[in-house]
Amino acid sequence: MDLLIKNGIIITANESYIGDVAVDKGKIVAIGKDLSAKDFSEIVDASGKYVLPGAIDVHTHLAMPFGGTISADGYFSGTRAAACGGTTTVFDFILQNFNEPMLDAIKRRDELAAPEAAVDYAFHIGVKDVHGMLLDTIEDAVDAGVCSFKVFMVYDFGVSDDVFFKVLEKAKACGALISVHAENNDMVTMLTQRYLAEGKTSAWYHYMSRPEFVEAEADSRAIQWAKALNSPLYIVHLANKQGVLEVTKARDEGYEIYAETCPQYLHFNSDVYKREDGRNFVCSPPIKGEESRQALWDAIKRGDIDTVATDHCPFQSYEKDWGKDDFSKIPNGCAGVENMYPYMLSAANEGKLSFNKVVELCSYNPAKIFGCTQKGSISVGKDADIVIYDPQKDYTITCEKMHSDYDHTIWEGVSLHGYPVKTYSRGRLVYDNGEFLGEAGWGKFVKRELKK
Ligand code: URP
Ligand code: ZN
Ligand code: ZN
Repeated sequence: MDLLIKNGIIITANESYIGDVAVDKGKIVAIGKDLSAKDFSEIVDASGKYVLPGAIDVHTHLAMPFGGTISADGYFSGTRAAACGGTTTVFDFILQNFNEPMLDAIKRRDELAAPEAAVDYAFHIGVKDVHGMLLDTIEDAVDAGVCSFKVFMVYDFGVSDDVFFKVLEKAKACGALISVHAENNDMVTMLTQRYLAEGKTSAWYHYMSRPEFVEAEADSRAIQWAKALNSPLYIVHLANKQGVLEVTKARDEGYEIYAETCPQYLHFNSDVYKREDGRNFVCSPPIKGEESRQALWDAIKRGDIDTVATDHCPFQSYEKDWGKDDFSKIPNGCAGVENMYPYMLSAANEGKLSFNKVVELCSYNPAKIFGCTQKGSISVGKDADIVIYDPQKDYTITCEKMHSDYDHTIWEGVSLHGYPVKTYSRGRLVYDNGEFLGEAGWGKFVKRELKK
């Protein structure tokens, strides 16, 4: 057999216990106490370390045309960085072109991803155009294993409420899950124009033009459409307190509403937009005030946020600088794919939440909600996507140590207590103590299916 990881503290979403994990041909084949070490090609002593399922980052934008440029990490560098932060599957967003059937969009992007991905990958499709027969092509994508779609309520390609409603209806009929970027586009446009006309051009006005209520109103409207159809809905990058309360209320009423937040909303607050480098933090929705940040942590603790994902969409400094004198010209998005799992695990290591909860948010729930049956747990039969984590290893994030292709990170200087030391992707060691050991093309497309 290929690999025996001995004496680690095995963490799943429900349990923590000391044991050995045996891996063969990319799968976890046995878990137990004192498994016999004979017949293994490799034995790793994990005493005093945690053995965790690899994280599943269900929200990345790799090589994405956006904001007048292309996001800085492609499929290779983005998945290399993922591996080095303990993330063994990424879900990337395909942005559909106008007039493009969904299967063509998948083919177009898989031609880029397949030769480059260093860890496994799945796709969501960002829906732009469902006129005529295009709506029905959602079913073709579902049959091809891409069963989740995002509608944007903002940006120049955002959809109107009627289109959103039709997409929700179609998804319900064919076993797909719709996620939503919820912000009120009219308010964003009006406030942006107003601030620019008043000469208020700094990054702070990115936040001011998309404040708490702009996101909250859209969360509420989106939930309203899901309720009307009794269809599931997944809210991506939830960042505001009122939206959290809307989610909690709908869930208490029995509706299938899922919520995702991101580490940048848990760690920073809107004060970052007052900083000299404030434009580097420009993302949408923007990072909100301290009350919202606290509300997100509270929602995590009481179980009203299901997943943490990154919204990884980095841009280079010179691109962020386009908005030095006009916040509306700053490409929206920040880095995070290498930082999410270490950040959340460090929070657990410091006692803010349990390691099991981090596994639930970053691996188990993403697998369950999005239909990755082979992933999300250290269990016999699952893919051997495994992270060994050293709770004693202190780590300060700095751009030079990251494995992306960007030239700055919002996480610069953030100190973590504990850090992943090894990452295995389907049993293959792809990261070892600071060093990437994987290769382009190793990552496989994850075909998914959701229960209707
Ligand atoms: O600012 C962000 N979030 N950029 C990526 C696109 C999106 O809205 O998710
Ligand atoms: Zn979005
Ligand atoms: Zn995004």
